[in-house]
Amino acid sequence: MARTPLLAGNWKMNMDHLEATHLVQKLAWTLGDAQHDFNRVEVAVFPPFTDIRSVQTLVDSDELKIAYGAQDVSAQDNGAFTGDISVSMLTKLGCSYVIVGHSERRQYHGETDTEVGAKAAKALAAGIVPVICCGEALEVREAGKHVEHVLGQIDAMFSGWEADAVGRVVVAYEPIWAIGTGKVATPADAQEVCGAIRARISERFGAGAAESIRVLYGGSAKPGNIKELMAQRDIDGALVGGASLKPEDFAAMAEYQKM
Ligand code: PGA
Repeated sequence: MARTPLLAGNWKMNMDHLEATHLVQKLAWTLGDAQHDFNRVEVAVFPPFTDIRSVQTLVDSDELKIAYGAQDVSAQDNGAFTGDISVSMLTKLGCSYVIVGHSERRQYHGETDTEVGAKAAKALAAGIVPVICCGEALEVREAGKHVEHVLGQIDAMFSGWEADAVGRVVVAYEPIWAIGTGKVATPADAQEVCGAIRARISERFGAGAAESIRVLYGGSAKPGNIKELMAQRDIDGALVGGASLKPEDFAAMAEYQKM
């Protein structure tokens, strides 16, 4: 498989810039002790905006292979958008990735699929790979409409996109009922939706885009379940919340191939 697995740590609103430096240092040491091969499994962290400059300084000075990115970005270039952060600001900070459309952004900030798609397109055009989130709420899952719901999000977010661009992004399937709840989707449940996402991409944008797009699972991923999740055909990595704040756990997850 040509797709490099990605282990992405979403810190959410945790860690100030001093704590961020310690966490990344610890993560780097732990991965170093484990002789982690970054070519086999890419490791990325997503700290709050206020930490990114500190993480950049550390990564650059110690030549760490840990990638980093932001948890959101504006779809606007610049101007009167109080509180927002632009793609060019993130580019200057050396971000390789940005999460867009996380369910918490959708829930607390009313973000729609159209906005999320615009943010993702903006980031990609500037060379930052968007990690585009999707996923269903518990009622949707219980009604058996989860695949349909997620594919609806995918269609809306990639509306008007070119195949080449689609093939370069990361999609993260995160069932909302599994986020921060300890209720992980079974590997088969996660595969069902991740497989359906890839099939839809293939149908709409062709086999090339479907082969190269990376699809992650997120929602209570941890050392105890990562190996089984990663064994699924269409799961190329994980978007990890809680466990990414514990460097030992996050590093152990990056070593899932040795488990
Ligand atoms: P969790 O969060 O791993 O704590 O469930 C995942 C996420 O929200 O990205």
